[in-house]
Amino acid sequence: MTGDTEKILVALVVAVSRNGVIGVDGGMAWRISDDLKWFKKNTMDKPVVMGRKTYQSIGKPLPGRDNIVITRRTAFSAGGVFVVRSIEDALTLARECAERRSADEISVIGGGEIYDQTLALADRIYLTRVDVELKGDAVFPEIDSREWRERVDGSCKKSERNQYDCDFFILDRRRA
Ligand SMILES: NC(=O)c1ccc[n+]([C@@H]2O[C@H](COP(=O)([O-])OP(=O)(O)OC[C@H]3O[C@@H](n4cnc5c(N)ncnc54)[C@H](OP(=O)(O)O)[C@@H]3O)[C@@H](O)[C@H]2O)c1
Repeated sequence: MTGDTEKILVALVVAVSRNGVIGVDGGMAWRISDDLKWFKKNTMDKPVVMGRKTYQSIGKPLPGRDNIVITRRTAFSAGGVFVVRSIEDALTLARECAERRSADEISVIGGGEIYDQTLALADRIYLTRVDVELKGDAVFPEIDSREWRERVDGSCKKSERNQYDCDFFILDRRRA
């Protein structure tokens, strides 16, 4: 591993409702066009790491990014994606991809199971707070605000294209 590899950040990218929900019935819980744009801006030209269920909810590889899908299923395969068997293998491969692209970040894009296992490893969170409370079966783990320095990176208003108001934040882990 080179010195440069050490500097590649692990960034979680997520949109969360006021009550922590990120998904309903295996799919997204809302349609917010401005959030999709923010997601694209923050993940483009980077490796994206995701769980098998999130990959299947997206349905195809995200263009312009190295798509890395984590599954325990030995029979799982999909065109245009790397398939790995563990979080550790995903991050190792993502670091190699990031080095090759000269990207400074790995994007971890969900879902709930993967966020749960990577929040402790994350250096940054691109966090969309969606101004709604709803029921869902996928959630984001609790963020301890003492561990993060938060800055605002914009907002969007409810409209025809945005189902709810939302605010965009970048959280950087506080270092001792
Ligand atoms: N709001 C947002 O920002 C956002 C972002 C992403 C996803 N989502 C939503 O989140 C939901 C999906 O999340 P989810 O928690 O149900 O599923 P997920 O995290 O996307 O995927 C879970 C799957 O990943 C694999 N996996 C998890 N941990 C593993 C490990 N340590 N080693 C190997 N494989 C592992 C397993 O696949 P196998 O079963 O194949 O072994 C597991 O079933 C959907 O509703 C989606 O729309 C929301």
